Amino acid sequence: MFDVYKIREDFPVLKRTIDKKPIIYLDSACMTLRPVQVIDKIREYYEQYSACGERSIHKLGKGVDEEAEKAKKILRKFLNAKREEEIIFTKNTTEGINLVANAMEWKKEDVIVSSDKEHNSNLLPWQLLIPKGIRHLIVKSNPDNTFNLEAFEEKMNRDVKLVSMVHTSNLDGVTFPAKEIIKISHDHGAKVLLDAAQSIPHLPIDVRKLDVDLMAFSGHKMVGPSGTGILYGKKDMLESMKPFMVGGGTVIDTHYQTAKFEELPQKYEAGLQNYAGLMGLGEAANYIMRIGKENIEKQEKILNSIITKGMEGMKFRIIGPQDPEKRGSVVSFVPEKISPHEVAMMADEMENICLRSGAHCVHSWFNEHNLEGTTRASLYFYNTKEEAEKLIETLGKINELIK
Ligand code: ALA
Repeated sequence: MFDVYKIREDFPVLKRTIDKKPIIYLDSACMTLRPVQVIDKIREYYEQYSACGERSIHKLGKGVDEEAEKAKKILRKFLNAKREEEIIFTKNTTEGINLVANAMEWKKEDVIVSSDKEHNSNLLPWQLLIPKGIRHLIVKSNPDNTFNLEAFEEKMNRDVKLVSMVHTSNLDGVTFPAKEIIKISHDHGAKVLLDAAQSIPHLPIDVRKLDVDLMAFSGHKMVGPSGTGILYGKKDMLESMKPFMVGGGTVIDTHYQTAKFEELPQKYEAGLQNYAGLMGLGEAANYIMRIGKENIEKQEKILNSIITKGMEGMKFRIIGPQDPEKRGSVVSFVPEKISPHEVAMMADEMENICLRSGAHCVHSWFNEHNLEGTTRASLYFYNTKEEAEKLIETLGKINELIK
């Protein structure tokens, strides 16, 4: 049974008060809070092992290998990937996408297709390939910021080598129709890389059902440790790419002029790893599986509806579709006459409400729409109806101050 009040007991930050008031954390799209189970797992590494993995044959080293293997097994199950070696441990979504940009073989005139709502992390790696003769095409969204499948299909032809697309937007919470995008891409011979940073924490994702070729996400947006992420890739896809960051752990043997590279996943996991982070990430995936993605989605929709309805008539324009069901866990709005930062600062000052304001690393979309930014509330399963109501009450007070 999903009991949000019981779940909240797992999150130490939620027990804190500042100026005798509780903290209302509505910035989970940036970084989620962490439950004690994940914190304990990180501590377990430092207290029980604190050693290298994949190298040292002593008992502590073997213990690290066993824990790392366990974490990869959990993550395989979390994604329903076919094999553990399809799961590359990275430091975040950004690293996963950069890895693909640098590890795929490109030739002049190859085309990459993305949407008009990409995070800088799924825009800049492709821009850096433009001097090599690669073309980067942008699919414009519908006026309500939902995905335009027709516009996408028009861009597709045999020159498109990669479709690199956000799955759920951090800007407005809209989820793109990944299955259709992948099917159309494959019909045109293109591979698909999904930026799942904002979808994996909230939606059920089965990489085999999706048939996605590559998918990057971060641990810190799914109650996992900071500086952790995964690049999932189909085995043949990962095998076809060249190693990007190389060094210790990526090779079986070297001579002064040559090297014999490791198999997957070591080929892409250079240097000593963040073992505590990997163990914590496995625990985070376990935690989310126990909560259940269907419960997560349900709770977020309830809260998003309360907030959306409560904001009606206020001087705040929600971006994206007005139907909260289509915006998952995000309420992102443009305030009239005052800056988005002022709204976030006032909410923090008045009630310890943590909101994010600005361009949310999607500057290109804001520039195209001539907007400075938005104020964004982003929800997760540990948020309550009382918190949603407090947000509305506080926004109501701020609304009154706008002349
Ligand atoms: N991409 C993160 C956010 O949307 C940083 O807040």
